[in-house]
Amino acid sequence: MLTLGIESSCDDTAAAVLLDERTLLSSVISSQDTIHTRFGGVVPELASRSHLESIVSVVHEALERASVTLTDIDLIAVTQGPGLMGSLLVGFSYAKSLSFARKIPFVGVDHMAGHILSVFLEDTQPDFPFISLVVSGGTSSIYLAKDFNDFTLLGRTRDDAAGEAFDKIAKLLGFAYPGGPIISKEASDGDPQAIKFPRSWLEKDSLDFSFSGLKTSVLNHCNREKQKNNPLMVKDICASFQEAVVDVLVEKTLMAAKQHNISNIVLGGGVSSNPRLRVHMLKRCTEEQKRLFIPRPVHCTDNGGMIALAGVHAHRENSVSSYDSDVYSRSALA
Ligand code: KG4
Repeated sequence: MLTLGIESSCDDTAAAVLLDERTLLSSVISSQDTIHTRFGGVVPELASRSHLESIVSVVHEALERASVTLTDIDLIAVTQGPGLMGSLLVGFSYAKSLSFARKIPFVGVDHMAGHILSVFLEDTQPDFPFISLVVSGGTSSIYLAKDFNDFTLLGRTRDDAAGEAFDKIAKLLGFAYPGGPIISKEASDGDPQAIKFPRSWLEKDSLDFSFSGLKTSVLNHCNREKQKNNPLMVKDICASFQEAVVDVLVEKTLMAAKQHNISNIVLGGGVSSNPRLRVHMLKRCTEEQKRLFIPRPVHCTDNGGMIALAGVHAHRENSVSSYDSDVYSRSALA
């Protein structure tokens, strides 16, 4: 079974060809970072226009690299939501058109399901049930995954997503978009204990997140230092901010595992590329005797492979989308 996966929910145009359930024959990602970087964040209108320009060549390249043609494809899986409506519409409409013209069934996939299941693109795979932490530019959520098509949302951010917080702090410090990788690089030479930024634990036992207080606290710290004419210790600020985010992500994920008596933990989403998050999560999982599974960074970020994989499993449950189905901006899983 050959599945073509198409992803265009935010600022990456991506396509992949998956053989059966897990063998990735190709994966092509066209990043829009250079377009958005001077604005300090994703500009929705520019994102959808750029998807329009690249979708055809990205899909063709994915087919070519997999040495297949559209005639060989059995299923088209495409991100239906959540995301930016204009961006989603490009991939979704293109997938519908291919499906109609070539008489290939297509299935709309929830982007979150893609991130939760991206670990199955790797050689080492978890057993169900597992706790999934999905942290990206648009989401910070904890799920209980019981099966390939059975996810329960346990907690979510009440304001900014973790990646969004990284990007906003990066902008505040004068770094380019996307700021997450730059902050983590700066943080590697900084002292994570230098500044005591707050951790937002919310109510007892809550698995929700909130990063807006932390963001304000970093802003206040920078303003105070500027007023005193002190130079900003940028590396220490990055390290201390990152530590505050990582502490909360790790402890809430472990709390979810404890509450539901689950021993497997899985990460997904762009922020799970963060080296400090990976190291600290592994340390705490080892201490708590949990098994940790993290996809390679290329599978953490938005990609067509995870959409193809989620699509295969949705299709197996008799899921096929109709031509009058539409995209959605908020997740059905959130
Ligand atoms: O999943 P993803 O590729 O897509 C979107 O949500 O669009 O995640 C992108 C997010 C951005 O906010 C980026 O700054 C963040 O992931 N990110 C990181 C790191 N690498 C990417 N955040 C912290 N540390 C990193 N190393």
